[in-house]
Amino acid sequence: MSDSSPLANLDSQRDELIRQINEISDFAVLREQEPLLVGKRSLLTTLQRTLGQIAENERKEAGALLQGARRLVEDRFNERFAELEMVERAAKLEADRLDLGDVVVSAVRVPVTVGHPNLVASTQRELEDVFVGMGFSVADGPEVESDWYNFEALNIPPAHPARGMWDTFYVDLGEPETVVLRTHTSPTQIHLMEAAVKLGDPRVHAVMPGRCFRRDTPDARHLAAFHQIEGLVVDRGITFADLAGVIETFTRAYFGPTISSRLRPAFFPFTEPSAEFEITCTICQGDGCRTCSQTGWIELGGCGMLDPAVLEAVGIDGSEWSGFAFGFGIDRCAQMRHQIADMRALIENDARFLRQFS
Ligand code: DAH
Repeated sequence: MSDSSPLANLDSQRDELIRQINEISDFAVLREQEPLLVGKRSLLTTLQRTLGQIAENERKEAGALLQGARRLVEDRFNERFAELEMVERAAKLEADRLDLGDVVVSAVRVPVTVGHPNLVASTQRELEDVFVGMGFSVADGPEVESDWYNFEALNIPPAHPARGMWDTFYVDLGEPETVVLRTHTSPTQIHLMEAAVKLGDPRVHAVMPGRCFRRDTPDARHLAAFHQIEGLVVDRGITFADLAGVIETFTRAYFGPTISSRLRPAFFPFTEPSAEFEITCTICQGDGCRTCSQTGWIELGGCGMLDPAVLEAVGIDGSEWSGFAFGFGIDRCAQMRHQIADMRALIENDARFLRQFS
């Protein structure tokens, strides 16, 4: 082919077209460029039109050369077209899939399980609310106590038979056994009175909720790890009538007017006189059932006037100040309020049971 032929640069022109095609990475751009690369406005089509200028004896060969070049360019174009089309389709599918995902989520409303406080926790909060409404503040105390706070300061000396009232978990720090998991919230009374005395004003009006531990075998009314709420009032001129009034007001506020309370003589080393605080069994409404051992009454806790020995232990002058205390089970309250026949349900974590109290 002569240098003057319109096809003299065909090879490099073909290669340049292929290079241009390879360089395009966007499907829309490739489509836009199609007429220029392989279509009507392309160089190859222009060259096609020049074939007429070629000497007749060379035209056939020139036509074949141009055809060969066109095939190569077109093949490459078609391949690139297919590649970029696939990329484009994949991107579209991905976008569509996300759209679809959104539609599914909003249309079907996938059920979401939302957690909620355990019944014991919400009961504790409700009890605190009732007492705050009656003018009490809320205080906290340690779960691990020394023997002095859990027993001695509460007028239960070492080896005193009253210790048998509480089956105690000792924290194993070797002999002597002086560190315990508190068996009741009563030691928090001691912490509060000590703090008040330190501040120079022994008056206290507080409730103290918290976890307690006893070496009890769990049954329908007992757990080895359970919760109590302790109450303490120290002031001038406090009498047993104040105590009875607080207990009755609390019972009606928390359990409602159909449930009554009664105080029965009892013994606790840290109160004198002492009483047991009972309420109508809500499971049988007082008729007698397994939960209340057929008595119609359920014991919630104990109460009484502060024993002078306790006031003395914390340095409060019993001739000027007096007070009362009470302590009862939060789990027992939850059980009675919601008519739960067996308290062990509170710690079994059966979601079907817990869900009733969300
Ligand atoms: N701490 C006692 C117990 O767990 C309950 C109790 C009785 C608390 C009398 C008191 C009280 O504050 O005055 O068995």
